[in-house]
Amino acid sequence: MKNIVVLISGRGSNLKAIIDAIESGKINAKISLVLSNKKDAKGLEIAKIHGIKAKFVDPAFFASRKGYDIYIAELIRKEEPDLIVLAGYMRILSDEFIEAFEGKIVNIHPSLVPAFQGKKAQKQALDFGSLITGCSVHFVTKELDNGPVIIQAAVPVMPEDTEESLSERILQYEHRIYPQAIKWILEGRVYVEGRKVIVKGAKYGSIPINPSLEDF
Ligand code: GRF
Repeated sequence: MKNIVVLISGRGSNLKAIIDAIESGKINAKISLVLSNKKDAKGLEIAKIHGIKAKFVDPAFFASRKGYDIYIAELIRKEEPDLIVLAGYMRILSDEFIEAFEGKIVNIHPSLVPAFQGKKAQKQALDFGSLITGCSVHFVTKELDNGPVIIQAAVPVMPEDTEESLSERILQYEHRIYPQAIKWILEGRVYVEGRKVIVKGAKYGSIPINPSLEDF
């Protein structure tokens, strides 16, 4: 069975969506480890409730980002993961880490990348006055929030939106496109050619989610 390692820093709602997709049989895989760089990450509790090994690794014990990443890379390698899923992992990964797991790391970002990369993407969209924003699942490369895009969902911005209300609207789509992208990757349907990602057999051309969801 395919194996996933999930890296988190907080709430863990995307982690929960992935766990639900596994438990309902939509994704044929297991999560063998959830790693957090924050002790109080709620996602660690979610993992434990679902019988998943959950570990907090304290960055304070490491002199450098590289040192931390070498340590967690070793922990992750032992799990022999098919995929490393960043689900609200709020720490920039070192180049060495990304090279070690090239093509095997995915992330979700709450904007239609390349718009609004980096922190507080929803606030950036509001401040800019965007009328449509969204979320993207992409492969992780050395450039932050800039890797090849697998699936995107467009989400409208309302005049009365706050950062919280917009984030919540986008989150509902995150919880659908992330499990879908993971399922496609683990089924071997995702091909990357340079910056372009093709999901074999997927239906392209639909709005607001392209390619169309099949299972979520
Ligand atoms: C999500 O908005 C995700 O797009 C971003 O961080 C947030 C994580 O939320 N990368 P959660 O921890 O999955 O609830």
